[in-house]
Amino acid sequence: MMDAGIEKIGTDPDTGYTSFRLGSFTFRRDEYFAHITWPRGSHIIEIDRFLRAMVRDIGWGFFYGWIFFDDIFGTTNHYGTVDIFAGSYDRGCKEAGIDLLETFPAETVAHAFETISRDWISEGYDPLNAPLETGSPMGPKGKERTDPLLRAFIAADRMLGLEGDKSVRSDATGHPINRAFADMNFDAPEIVCEPGFEGQLHAINLFEHIARSDVTWNPSISAVTRANICCVTSEEHMLPVIHGNDRNEWFIQLSDEIHWNIADKNTGAPRGRVVMKAGDVCAMPADIRHQGFSPKRSMLMVLENGTPGLETRYASGDLKPYPVDFG
Ligand SMILES: [Fe+2]
Repeated sequence: MMDAGIEKIGTDPDTGYTSFRLGSFTFRRDEYFAHITWPRGSHIIEIDRFLRAMVRDIGWGFFYGWIFFDDIFGTTNHYGTVDIFAGSYDRGCKEAGIDLLETFPAETVAHAFETISRDWISEGYDPLNAPLETGSPMGPKGKERTDPLLRAFIAADRMLGLEGDKSVRSDATGHPINRAFADMNFDAPEIVCEPGFEGQLHAINLFEHIARSDVTWNPSISAVTRANICCVTSEEHMLPVIHGNDRNEWFIQLSDEIHWNIADKNTGAPRGRVVMKAGDVCAMPADIRHQGFSPKRSMLMVLENGTPGLETRYASGDLKPYPVDFG
């Protein structure tokens, strides 16, 4: 376990960006790229991709299992500690012996990634927005953003729209209908309560709720019932990370379509392509990595089983990597 937190190691006088060290990894950016080095290796990632991945990794609390920024670099969540790895799940790097994996307390990595993102993100660029809805991160450092980098998860603590609920979206909360969903119908459900139950029953149009999301690939609104986690999201362009599952993950495609590239989690060898269209349901297995591509903004419902310890039951083979046997 690496105990030391992030440290600054210098500022580039030409671009204005600061370089950092965390454990054995160093992080430097220039106008186009993030450069990551470690004692036996180095790696380069296009800056937009790097920042879109890093900000989601923090926002998701490192999510379940593996977050690959690309095929080489990423994090693994052990729910309390987090690995940072380079090349550890890439056959070429493994065979060359240049891979590195270090483990840190989760809060150390969260703080480090937030520090790097704060320094490397300037006003006018928001990595949580779809590329067509934000500026570019390229070029020298501009004015630092002062607003929150992240939209924190907002748990729906009671039925959406009931009095006291703060998570429902409207024009008044600064959430207009996204341009991609302008042609949809958002009829409000009719609610008829038995006398005596007024104020305890409500319903909203979930499509309208998702259509007002201002972020992509980021489940800013989720419903949690014990270990069941249900997130509805809007997706546009590409999932900025490759997610390696440590448990099954259910997808219900609610509108339009998403193309998924699916590969072996450990080697990255291709295993399949899935095109999910509105109404399709799938369970991503526990032993794969996957990345989604949404040509037009679409709506996706993701269901996760957050039961603690599930990851070790899948890792040990106690549970099959898929949820259903057919035939
Ligand atoms: Fe996933």
